[in-house]
Amino acid sequence: MEEKNIIINYTEYNCAEELPQLEKTLLEKAIQATSSSYAPYSKFNVGAAVLMGNGEVVTGSNQENAASPSGLCAERVALFAAHHMYPNEPVKAIAIAAKQNGKITADLTYPCAACIQVMVESQKRSGSPIKIIVGSAGKIQVFGSVDTLLPFSFGNLSQ
Ligand code: THU
Repeated sequence: MEEKNIIINYTEYNCAEELPQLEKTLLEKAIQATSSSYAPYSKFNVGAAVLMGNGEVVTGSNQENAASPSGLCAERVALFAAHHMYPNEPVKAIAIAAKQNGKITADLTYPCAACIQVMVESQKRSGSPIKIIVGSAGKIQVFGSVDTLLPFSFGNLSQ
């Protein structure tokens, strides 16, 4: 028997101005994408921006439904659209931000577990790590790989 532990490495910035250019631009695009959010039920407007290997950025926003499980988070809207548009390109990074009452949230908007599982699949498709940029009105966190958010993931169907 052995006790084990996991260390999560990430970079935290105090504001968007501190971010490297790539992360800054992607986060701005995620914030812009909140404008197409359809969230009449939660009034929580989420935007996501996905950077592909060819440099293209595909954005998405949450799309809600009166029958709530039929709606979809911004991250999955963006990721599925990105894979549809560029099926042979790797996903390099995804930025996420949210607005409430027209203002960027004070709290960080982390992707939900279902979205992280979809990111696991995106990462598996290319074999290269996906950077995750999580934004707020204040601090911003950058994770170098999906593995840091979900170190133990399901994905062994093919064995
Ligand atoms: N939502 C996202 O789009 N992404 C997240 O990372 C968290 C939650 C959406 C789902 C729903 O439309 C609303 O935010 C409230 O949960």
